[in-house]
Amino acid sequence: MAETLAAASEAAEKMPEFPMPRAAGCPFAPPPDVEKLRAENPLRKVRIWDGSMPWLVTGHALQRALLADPRVSANDKSPGNFPFVTEYRRQIAEFTPELIVNTDAPVHTRLRRTVNGPFVIKRIEAMRAPIQKIVDGLIDDMLAGPNPADLLTALALPVPSLVISELLGVPYEDHEFFQKNSSLALDRSAAPEESRAASTALHDYLDRLIGEKLVNPGEGVLSELAGRVTAGDMTRTEAVHMGVAMLIAGHETTATMISLGTLVLLENPEQLALVRDSEDPKAVAGAVEELLRYLSIVQVGLRRVATEDIEIGGQVIRAGDGLVIDLHAGNWDPEAFPGAEQVDVTRPARQHNAFGYGPHQCLGQSLARLELQIVYSTLYRRVPTLRLATTVDQLEFDHSGTTYGVASLPVAW
Ligand code: HEM
Repeated sequence: MAETLAAASEAAEKMPEFPMPRAAGCPFAPPPDVEKLRAENPLRKVRIWDGSMPWLVTGHALQRALLADPRVSANDKSPGNFPFVTEYRRQIAEFTPELIVNTDAPVHTRLRRTVNGPFVIKRIEAMRAPIQKIVDGLIDDMLAGPNPADLLTALALPVPSLVISELLGVPYEDHEFFQKNSSLALDRSAAPEESRAASTALHDYLDRLIGEKLVNPGEGVLSELAGRVTAGDMTRTEAVHMGVAMLIAGHETTATMISLGTLVLLENPEQLALVRDSEDPKAVAGAVEELLRYLSIVQVGLRRVATEDIEIGGQVIRAGDGLVIDLHAGNWDPEAFPGAEQVDVTRPARQHNAFGYGPHQCLGQSLARLELQIVYSTLYRRVPTLRLATTVDQLEFDHSGTTYGVASLPVAW
């Protein structure tokens, strides 16, 4: 018995720690130790911050199989060892109501249906002209202002913030408040009290807005949610949480793809030329997919727990085992994308996992794609001399957020 315990403790000692650091000077690649683990075994256990040992899934095909498997749950209250991202997330799990992000079918199916409407491709496509206007206006302002400028504050953050404000019916004047608090709520290095205060502030804010829309419905998704509350399809708490989820998910991710995507292209001028000079909208759409794959900005891994034993990839995942699905590693899996470490905007990359896969795959993906296609097809054409006004090693990369990003991106033209 003592020997078995000693062996188990020795095995735990040798268990790799997750997350792992990226290599200095390689801002776009997954951590080298993650790449090594995938090459050795794309499904293996690691140790996370609380000492628990979930499976780390790094193979592209395994990720898809598991994310689509009904025995794999997103419900952090499921029995077993759900691999929480932070102590704060663990603390709040039991008090958090059923939400789109932490439920399985059939509850998830019902909640997702309540917000699907505004995100169907036809309604998103109708936003093309207004988004183009927003992008043109912001580029006009940038060109009229000081040179160099910070692309993050001039374009990358305002585009998705303006779009999501418009879509939800949230006043854009409040953008500094919701940008700051969303970022804090998702920051792994923030203290639990800090995350809680940021999250409470966002919930109070959305509760006030939903309250107003219940009395005076207007345009936008929040009014639609208020309508569903009035009709008895969902509770006010559910509507508030849904609004917060969309506000948080809807701007930082896309902002990061605008800034980091531009950085990758500026560092790879031949790829930038392909995007800038192509007359074919499909070529720009393809470049968006490749940059989503290459950057895979959701850097913490999707978190799940097995509800039954699952035999897969020559292993048995036991009921109650946690799963961490590292999207960046999956999107650099050479079996799915040969030469994955090269950015190649002509590569057919649409099968990437950057928006997740299965029932929880990104609700806002059509909107994100549209925003990115418009920005990428406008910015480099209108500003053909765009260049980095610093060096990559001077940039401050954010390693502690749910999404990877840069604190600022100084550009000149
Ligand atoms: C480039 C930008 C974006 C990226 C890379 C991204 C990535 C993701 C990923 C990986 C997931 C899956 C999470 C999981 O399975 O646990 C997800 C879910 C989600 N995303 Fe996005 N997202 C982006 C933009 C957006 C936008 C613009 C919205 C707009 C409202 C949005 C709303 C959501 C929501 C509500 C979910 C939860 C869906 C569910 O659990 O059923 N996202 N996103």
